[in-house]
Amino acid sequence: MKVAVLGYGTVGVGVYEMLKAAESLEPGPVLVRPGKVDTDFKVSSIDDIVGDPSVDAVAEVMGGVEPAFTYAMAAIRAGKHFVTSNKALVAAKGVELNRAAREAGVCFLFSAACGGGVPILHNLARAARTDEILSVGGILNGTTNFMLDQMQSTGKDYADALKQAQELGYAEADPTADVTGLDALRKIMLACAVAWGILPQSGLLNEGIDSLSAEDVKDFMERGYVCRLVASGQRAEDGRISAYVEPVLVRAGDAESAVLKNYNMARYEGRNAGPIAMIGQGAGRYPTASAVLRDLSGICQGESAMFPADCIDGAADNSAAVHAYYMRLPKTCADAVPTAKILADDGNVIRILTKCVSVQNMHACAAELRKAGQKVFFAAVREA
Ligand SMILES: NC(=O)c1ccc[n+]([C@@H]2O[C@H](COP(=O)([O-])OP(=O)(O)OC[C@H]3O[C@@H](n4cnc5c(N)ncnc54)[C@H](OP(=O)(O)O)[C@@H]3O)[C@@H](O)[C@H]2O)c1
Repeated sequence: MKVAVLGYGTVGVGVYEMLKAAESLEPGPVLVRPGKVDTDFKVSSIDDIVGDPSVDAVAEVMGGVEPAFTYAMAAIRAGKHFVTSNKALVAAKGVELNRAAREAGVCFLFSAACGGGVPILHNLARAARTDEILSVGGILNGTTNFMLDQMQSTGKDYADALKQAQELGYAEADPTADVTGLDALRKIMLACAVAWGILPQSGLLNEGIDSLSAEDVKDFMERGYVCRLVASGQRAEDGRISAYVEPVLVRAGDAESAVLKNYNMARYEGRNAGPIAMIGQGAGRYPTASAVLRDLSGICQGESAMFPADCIDGAADNSAAVHAYYMRLPKTCADAVPTAKILADDGNVIRILTKCVSVQNMHACAAELRKAGQKVFFAAVREA
C-alpha cells in the first residue's frame, strides 16, 4: 500500500522513516509548504497526491482543522484511505469524515490522535463492537503529567515546571491547549465517539493545571495525595454522556500515581471485560508515528473504521457526574461551595473538602469566582 504523507514535521518525518522500513507499506509523496520542496519525494500541491492513482492511502500529520479537513475530504473522495494523528481535526469534523469515508468505501482511522503511541482507540473500537463500554478516560496529556511529576518530585513551581517541559520539547511554545486541559478534552471526545457513537460538541468541561501552585502540591502531598490531570467519559443508564477533564487527587499508591514523567495511562471499562488500562508514550516522533503505522497496517489487515457507522455529533451532560472536591479559595468566598470540612485556614485563604457536588456545578462555581477576580484551585478527590 503506497502512503502519501501530509506534513513533514515532528510526526511526519517519523511516519516517512517508518514507512520506508515497513512491510507491505511504501512511502509516497510528502506534502510540504510551497518553497519547501527540496527533494524529489516532496510536493507542494494536494492535487499531486489526490490525483496520483498510485497513492492508496493518505496519512495527515499537519495539524489544525483547515486545510487538513479540505485535504482529507479530497483524498477520501478520490478513493484514498485516510489516517490522521490530528485530534483537533477529528474532534471538529470526525462525524463528517466518518460518513464520507463510508460512502467512498475507504478506511478512516486515527489511533495516534488519542494516547499517541498507546493503542487505546484501536482496542476500544474493537471492544465496543462486542462489549458495552461503561467508561473511558485516564491521563491523556503527557506534558501536564510531566509538569505534575516535576512539581511533586522536586518542589518546582508551575512556571519552572512549564519551562522545563518546553526545554525538553514536551510543551509547545504556546502550551495553552495542554495546561488548560483542552488537548485532553479533544482526546476524550474521540474516545466517547468510539465507545458510544456520539461525538460530544457541547456541554464539555475542562479544568487544567494552570491555577496549581507549589503550595497546593505541598499541601496535598502532606495529606497523602498525588495530583493527576484526568479525562473522563461515562455513559449513564439513561444514555447521557459525561465528558470532562479536571485535576484529580489520587492516593499515593493508586495506579495513576505511578504514571510518571510524560507518560499516559489510558483506560476503559467494559461491562464484560472489566477495567483495562494501558501505559505508554502519549507523544513524541516515533511513538506517535508508530500509531499511524499501526493504523495503516491495520487497513491492510481489514480494519476500516473506529467510529460506528451511525456516529453523530451530540452533547455532553456533566450534571450527573458527582465528586467531593479539594478546593483552595479566598476565605471571603467560603459560602460559594458546600463545605464538608475545612482542611486549612491561614486567615486569607482556606483549603476545604467539599460535599459531593456535580462536575457541572463545581466548574461553574470556579468560573464565577474567577470572573469576580478570585484565585481558586480545585481537584476532584478520589475516595473522599
Ligand atoms: N508531536 C507529537 O508528539 C504528537 C502526538 C500526537 C498527535 N500529534 C498530532 O500530530 C499532528 C502533527 O504534529 P507535529 O508535532 O508533527 O507538528 P509539527 O512538528 O508542527 O509538524 C507539522 C508539519 O506540517 C506542516 N504543515 C502545516 N500546515 C501545512 C500545509 N497547509 N501544507 C503543508 N504542510 C503543512 C508544517 O509546516 P510548517 O512548519 O512550515 O508550518 C510542519 O512541518 C498534530 O495534529 C498533532 O496534534 C502530535
